[in-house]
Amino acid sequence: MRLAHISDLHVLDLKGIKPWRFLNKRVTGGLNLLLGRSKIHRPELLELALAKIEALGCDHIAVTGDVSNLALESEFRRVKELLAGPIAAHKLSVVAGNHDRYTLGSVLTRRFDVAFEALIQTDLPQLPSVHGWPYVKLLGDVALIGLNTAVAQPIAVSGGRVGHKQLEALQHVLKHPDVEARYSVVMMHHHMFKPANKKREFPRGLSDRKEVLEVLLEGKADLVIHGHNHYYSTRTHPRSSNGSGVMVVCEAGSTTIARAHKDPNRDGKFNTYDIEHGRLSQVTTYRFVSGPGFVPWRRWGFDNRTPIRLPLALEQ
Ligand SMILES: [Fe+2]
Ligand SMILES: [Fe+2]
Repeated sequence: MRLAHISDLHVLDLKGIKPWRFLNKRVTGGLNLLLGRSKIHRPELLELALAKIEALGCDHIAVTGDVSNLALESEFRRVKELLAGPIAAHKLSVVAGNHDRYTLGSVLTRRFDVAFEALIQTDLPQLPSVHGWPYVKLLGDVALIGLNTAVAQPIAVSGGRVGHKQLEALQHVLKHPDVEARYSVVMMHHHMFKPANKKREFPRGLSDRKEVLEVLLEGKADLVIHGHNHYYSTRTHPRSSNGSGVMVVCEAGSTTIARAHKDPNRDGKFNTYDIEHGRLSQVTTYRFVSGPGFVPWRRWGFDNRTPIRLPLALEQ
């Protein structure tokens, strides 16, 4: 099984949006856009990434949120066009980011969930959930779990929360025999560990990260993939005090960033995860380079507890 991971697409589309819809939290988001976000994130990179993912023979694509900028219907429509053009819906899974639940109106109408209904269906409907979260997809020997961390927040707060009820539901999911028997991958937007490029967590982090981490470790989650920081990171966390087993935690970064930074961790990226016989054999990160497009940049293998840097070989 080869799983692809894209994130933080930040697709902008204001087609048909009336000016008064900016008279809310979008005032700050709109200002951000004017200050350059719309130039930084380029939808053509998403098309290039999807073509590369297709060429790499990936079986499924996980999208870890912030697909939009302002949680507008026009943006969600455009994202669906970009994704669903080349990729069949059964090969896609998505979770919401803070930008996808940007305003109270978008949260109350569950605009993201309605727009992406076909991609957030669960294979275990008998399990408890909070408005359908978390959902589970049984994909061969992998169980892919979509967790919602995006909640309504005041202006200038981009943090998230899983919440007590959804955490209880997650405990049930991780204990289900169909999940326990598989390699479990949890996808969510926000991070649990402070990213290397940030000094402080507030107002960006997951407010219940300690509880979330506890449930994931207790439930023996194998791999956690997330977005939000637009910053590459691969790390491991021991699953028990006696050191038996490890949980791998990965952020690829934003897939649609076209600008080359001094710090390459910030450039446009996506990940692939090769999962064979119930274990993660390797994680490969592809980085966008103007000209050749997405090229292999980092590769890690995992020998129980220790990540091992692998050679990239001669490939494009
Ligand atoms: Fe983002
Ligand atoms: Fe975010």
